Amino acid sequence: MSDQSEWVQRPASALKGTNCTAEQYEKMYASSLQDSDAFWAKQAERIDWFQKPSKIANWSFDPVDIKWFEDGTLNICHNAVDRHVEAGNGDRTAIIFEPDSPDGEVRTFSYADVQREVIRMANTLKKLGVAKGDRVTIYMPMVPEGAFAMLACARIGAIHSVIFGGFSPDAIAGRVDDCESDWIVTADEGLRGSKTIPLKANVDSALEKVSAKGVLVLRHTGGDVSMTDGRDHWYHELSAEVSDECLCEPMNAEDPLFILYTSGSTGKPKGVLHTTGGYAVWTETTFRYIFDYRDGEVFWCTADIGWVTGHSYIVYGPLQNGATALMFEGVPNYPDHDRFWQVCAKHKVNIFYTAPTAIRALMREGDHHVEKHDLSSLRLLGSVGEPINPEAWRWYHETVGKERIPIIDTWWQTETGGCMITTLPAAHDMKPGSAGKPFFGVQPQLVDNEGAELEGAASGNLCITHSWPGQARTVYGDHERFIQTYFSTYPGKYFTGDGCRRDEDGYYWITGRVDDVINVSGHRMGTAEVESALVLHPKVSEAAVVGFPHDIKGQGIYCYVTLMDGVEESDELSAELRQWVRKEIGPIATPDHLHFTPALPKTRSGKIMRRILRKIGENEFGSLGDTSTLADPGVVDALIEGRKNR
Ligand code: PRX
Repeated sequence: MSDQSEWVQRPASALKGTNCTAEQYEKMYASSLQDSDAFWAKQAERIDWFQKPSKIANWSFDPVDIKWFEDGTLNICHNAVDRHVEAGNGDRTAIIFEPDSPDGEVRTFSYADVQREVIRMANTLKKLGVAKGDRVTIYMPMVPEGAFAMLACARIGAIHSVIFGGFSPDAIAGRVDDCESDWIVTADEGLRGSKTIPLKANVDSALEKVSAKGVLVLRHTGGDVSMTDGRDHWYHELSAEVSDECLCEPMNAEDPLFILYTSGSTGKPKGVLHTTGGYAVWTETTFRYIFDYRDGEVFWCTADIGWVTGHSYIVYGPLQNGATALMFEGVPNYPDHDRFWQVCAKHKVNIFYTAPTAIRALMREGDHHVEKHDLSSLRLLGSVGEPINPEAWRWYHETVGKERIPIIDTWWQTETGGCMITTLPAAHDMKPGSAGKPFFGVQPQLVDNEGAELEGAASGNLCITHSWPGQARTVYGDHERFIQTYFSTYPGKYFTGDGCRRDEDGYYWITGRVDDVINVSGHRMGTAEVESALVLHPKVSEAAVVGFPHDIKGQGIYCYVTLMDGVEESDELSAELRQWVRKEIGPIATPDHLHFTPALPKTRSGKIMRRILRKIGENEFGSLGDTSTLADPGVVDALIEGRKNR
């Protein structure tokens, strides 16, 4: 029997105008499993294909080869933009831009405006020399032109690789190099909470290490930047005389749409590759059913377009549905902690989608920030990026939602292209802290460490056993790594890297990563990346990085560092190393704790025992497990002592 106290009922009002009731969910979910091809062929009918696909799914997880709609042709930009204009909806608002400062200028773009802007960008990219199949790096602030650049690439068949504006020059260089991108779209500077981010200067530094044929620069803040002759071009200048026509390139469904770099347990970030047709169907369908979108509503996803959430639920999902998407340049606490709620009230936002880390940070600042604003337009609240603790869930539900609207907690990943596990607003009651039920076509399976399936209520490693249209197809330029990372741990299954519990009601509770990936403020980070950055410093001999529970960020970054012989530890060195990691990766990777230690706990064969380091980082000294295999068990006592002192 399930524990009744954990249920929160969906409000009756969620049913009005819904796309999916409980009965419809059951029926559609069952048919998505029973006849997957027929189900997805039907969903794909909402896409405007140039050539309708006759083949639906063609996939195998062993060997790994994934194709959907493989003989169809389409253009996702046509689906996101042009077809709405052609259908007579050109006047409908596509994007509302709310700038960093509340006093800044709100810009609103109808679908016809977006079409015009995207064509301008597309023709400018062509003028620069960009051709179908080229990789274009987009390193932009959260401004509509960032979305236009993505859509322009899609329109001409170029593959975009968006890099979050918080990444460092070294991180840009690594990504540009990995996908051999000759073209970069950027801006003079970005703005975030009154701070300026030197985007163009960062690109310049990156281009000291790697080369590019052309850099297109948007004038945004008007800040001073240096321009390299022959390589750098102002967007407003180069775009001044381009044609106002640009056809959408017919793309095969399996032609690449974008690369997005994400962290894993080992090595440098991987360029996860998504293709066109499956991703189009997946983002269109998930947006439609999960956010239960109704015509005319204002949808606000607070993510940055540099992350997959921004790709799928600021750009492709909402626009393919003809929705109105709000794009926000700023941060939740500038100029004050009520900024999110002020924006919701100002633009009468109906659907609000954010991350638990923001919810926890705002919760701490007090209810008065929320109560100051009229949030009666809200109809649905969403959460994404990390597990949401029940306390934050309840605050979101009670203080923001006034207990009158549903919350969806959507579990998914860069690799899944769109939401995978979530309740649907009108179909399911909720349980705070649980993502809920699988979306159509998603077949989750829990397995033990040996790969044996666990049935019924159980806890284990979360795998997906059947492909879905939005699934990533490969790691750019390294299919072997794709296979190794996702399909080798449990052959024949896609392994998510997450731990999960399924309860007696079939609800899924994500418990967090079971690999060496940590989730810091909803940003995914490989501990190996931070370690590599630290050991690049001349004074560092070895480093081991683990996550630890953090009230606001979910997880914080805990670094154990051993120094080179003769180097003394000091607060200055600690600050220097922090700064060093920021420079190597970016501010999101700033270590929370640096713990100098003369040695790391290693087995006799030299393997670092991370399990022990994790426990010590979590302040759990009583459950360190067996330490007898350590080469020097005394190291552990010294580490515990060091932990207690911070
Ligand atoms: O650990 C899971 C966590 O975020 C990881 C995916 O990170 P990323 O690829 O950056 O995509 C984030 C946005 C989709 C997952 O492996 N995660 C994401 N959403 C949730 C979550 N954990 C718990 N609950 C969620 N709703």
